[in-house]
Amino acid sequence: MIRINHLTDIDTIPAERLQALLGSAEQYLQTPKTCPTFPNAQMATLFYENSTRTRLSFQLASQRLNMPSLALDSHYSSVQKGESIEDTAANLVAMGINILVIRHPDSDAPQRLLDVVGKQAAIINAGSGTASHPTQALLDVLTILQHKRSLEALTIAIIGDILHSRVARSQIVLLHKLGVQSIRLIAPNALLPAEVASLPVDVYTDMTKGLQQTDVAICLRIQKERMPPSLFPDVQAYREQFGLTPEKCQLLKPDAIIMHPGPMNRGVEIDSAVADGAQSVILEQARNGVALRMAVLASAAEHLH
Ligand code: CP
Repeated sequence: MIRINHLTDIDTIPAERLQALLGSAEQYLQTPKTCPTFPNAQMATLFYENSTRTRLSFQLASQRLNMPSLALDSHYSSVQKGESIEDTAANLVAMGINILVIRHPDSDAPQRLLDVVGKQAAIINAGSGTASHPTQALLDVLTILQHKRSLEALTIAIIGDILHSRVARSQIVLLHKLGVQSIRLIAPNALLPAEVASLPVDVYTDMTKGLQQTDVAICLRIQKERMPPSLFPDVQAYREQFGLTPEKCQLLKPDAIIMHPGPMNRGVEIDSAVADGAQSVILEQARNGVALRMAVLASAAEHLH
């Protein structure tokens, strides 16, 4: 039996396959005109949460691979009549869809699809609850590797709302798996997850200490939609302590790069002067997202029955 190449989280994927996806994405960037085509693959995107970058980059990626695709619009679909994601997926697979890309507020949504249709279709996680966003973590590493020769010796700081960040969770697992020795989390105690002590990270609640000698600073969006107002009472106080301002950037290594998965709260976790400044690679992350998702879709399509 052929094994289907799912991508539901980083934990379950061997480092060699993750490296292969990064290499394949870099190839798509270097030689965009030599793409394979996959007319037998049929992708559907199922986005139950809002998205700009991830949703459109999966659509662009499928177009560039000549892979037929369609998008379920959850506002106008039978989701509104109460249909479960399992029933939705089973019906799409019955119609011939064999790659399902899902974004959902439930952390276990990709696994639930895997349980129901995982033998017939590749399941790709485009962001699940607060648990996992594997393609974002991969495109972030792709971007870092374009600026830094190797990962192992880097000091990488992830800053801000770690508690609600599926991006941070996937980044930590991926960076650790790929050999990064120094991963720092910089956040107020209230925005750190309970499991932080068991993670392979160093924790800083003082940003001026955490940023020193850092090669890569990754700012995270404050996810107000996932927290009670009491958890985030004062925007200005947050910006002063944990926002990346031009002054705080002076603490980084001179050749440090600055990242943000988007969307950004300008003037909260990152100032515009930093987001649009010379060290920012934020739009490169968006560009790399298309190539990385091409690699993920191609890898899934190559292993379909
Ligand atoms: N980074 C990210 O997932 O952005 P979107 O929510 O716009 O897809």
